[in-house]
Amino acid sequence: MSDRAPDDSPDRPGSRILPADPHAAWRRADAKIRAAIERVCDSGRYILGPEVAAFEAAWAAYVGVRHAVGVASGTDAIELALRACGVRSGDLVLTAANTVTATVAAMERAGARLALADVDPETLVLDVPGLAQWLAGPDAPRLRAVVAVHLYGHPVDMPALEALADEHGFVVIEDAAQAHGAVSGGRRVGSRGAAAAFSFYPTKNLPAFGDAGAVTTDDAAIAERARRLRQYGWRERYVAEEPGLNSRLDEMQAAILRVGLEALDQDNARRRAIAERYREELAGIPELVLPVEPAWGRSVWHQFVVRTPRRDALRAHLLARGIHAAVLYPQPIHRQPAYRNRVLVPPGGLPVAERASRELLCLPVHPGLSEVDVERVVAAVRAFPV
Ligand SMILES: Cc1ncc(COP(=O)(O)O)c(C=O)c1O
Repeated sequence: MSDRAPDDSPDRPGSRILPADPHAAWRRADAKIRAAIERVCDSGRYILGPEVAAFEAAWAAYVGVRHAVGVASGTDAIELALRACGVRSGDLVLTAANTVTATVAAMERAGARLALADVDPETLVLDVPGLAQWLAGPDAPRLRAVVAVHLYGHPVDMPALEALADEHGFVVIEDAAQAHGAVSGGRRVGSRGAAAAFSFYPTKNLPAFGDAGAVTTDDAAIAERARRLRQYGWRERYVAEEPGLNSRLDEMQAAILRVGLEALDQDNARRRAIAERYREELAGIPELVLPVEPAWGRSVWHQFVVRTPRRDALRAHLLARGIHAAVLYPQPIHRQPAYRNRVLVPPGGLPVAERASRELLCLPVHPGLSEVDVERVVAAVRAFPV
């Protein structure tokens, strides 16, 4: 039976199109994943063993760096990357106002005081020319680090950011949780900052079957410190060099990630094909702004973010047709109860991030979508009354 619903049909069981499909990895490679899990069970090693070491080597090679350090989540990876790069209590650290709360939660856990910057109106990632203006202001001398979030799969303009970092003496950390395989200035993200953080949460481009993350870096001392910090700060067994945490990657997740990594490029290519189709077939709809791939790199289309002043109506229209479109994220950081009035905001405010949060909608773009699903999304968006 066809999975296709007529253009104006209401939702019906089994025909929903969801924002992500964590089960797709299992459907594609269940035999390989079963074998990987069995291998771990048989080995008797469950934490920081040979599977973790093998995944770390494979991930470092994929990203194009010397070191990858497997940790328990993307949030931990950001905290550990910042701490391993020397960020300390009270340091001012800046990021983009439209990021997920995990980024700033991790920054604060590293001891940072939070500063926010606005995003580029076309790509919705950190506005680097805008940051250059901020750096002419009074807070610039206190800036210790910038967390560059490659949001929605779109890379930040890293060469431009690195030029500012050299000039002003701040450290660049990448939050690459949504951008496995994306390229900025000719190199994969995760290889550009002093260190980078990845999440392998089950909806990410490279998914684990639970929580998992990694820090990547080219710097042996930073890698060494991240390794120490992920396990109680131990320099050697039971002897702590500095206070650390428990953020170890387990063998099961590492073994599953090794299987998933074989399919990452293919999955990213599928995301790109869907994004290209949306961009072609949804072009020219009044009041609908389509996402733009940054001129300075290559996106991996973690999300396909459209914008319209009638966002809530479009979302309801899609939902009535069984298409669940997500809002990532409904409020910028400085508007959220946890952060309101206690983060450093530029004098002109954060107008682009604020407007985007009211207008954006993420159309499903994950590799688990069939051609019929993609067609349904296109038809449903086109049927939205203008
Ligand atoms: C941009 C970004 N940063 C950080 C995180 C945190 O990763 P995790 O959920 O693995 O802690 C996520 C994922 O939720 C994310 O999308």
